[in-house]
Amino acid sequence: MELEKFLSELEEFGNRNDSSKTDRTQKMLNITKDTGEFLTVFIKAAKSRSILEIGTSNGYSTIWLAVGAKYTGGRITTIDFSEAKAEMAKNNFEKAELTGLIEQVVDDAGNFLENAQADAYDFIFLDSQRSAYTAWLGDIKRILKRGGTLIVDNALSHKDEMDAFMALVDCDTDFTTCLLSVGNGQYIAVRE
Ligand SMILES: C[S@@+](CC[C@H](N)C(=O)[O-])C[C@H]1O[C@@H](n2cnc3c(N)ncnc32)[C@H](O)[C@@H]1O
Repeated sequence: MELEKFLSELEEFGNRNDSSKTDRTQKMLNITKDTGEFLTVFIKAAKSRSILEIGTSNGYSTIWLAVGAKYTGGRITTIDFSEAKAEMAKNNFEKAELTGLIEQVVDDAGNFLENAQADAYDFIFLDSQRSAYTAWLGDIKRILKRGGTLIVDNALSHKDEMDAFMALVDCDTDFTTCLLSVGNGQYIAVRE
């Protein structure tokens, strides 16, 4: 199936699904299309190859990351603790013919991060449990290579929940940061 058409179908599915469910765990909570476009462009421009995504859901954002990774010769590891969402994502990666570029991990992200190798990733996309970001920061920094980039979604839509995390990263002299009004707000931190 043509990828652009498939991404539009997933976008429609996410919107329809999320407006019909009240249980948050059953919502897809996908990034916006312009965020996806931005992630693809960023990965291509930065030539990112070892990519980590925290928060797979049904794989919509992962597919945008994978379009970039296909160009750079990179690979993606994506984590979600929901078995049901991981299964949906697996089916979507198969339909998008991107399975070979993506390793899925079904685990708590905090547990995964604690056990991940230092300097393992040159790009990390964080779109998960915002209340845990501050606790995860030490491991995120440890596993992000120097010169690598962390991008965090919802920096404007949920600014109040992100403020403490962004303040911590902003005052760390190992990071250069900015906030972009793309989609729900992208917080970008480059590790020096
Ligand atoms: C906002 S959604 C991700 C949306 C996805 N990035 C997209 O745009 O298609 C957040 C996801 O994080 C997962 N999640 C929340 N807390 C988690 C945790 N502690 N460990 C692993 N996954 C978690 C949820 O199951 C949910 O699927």
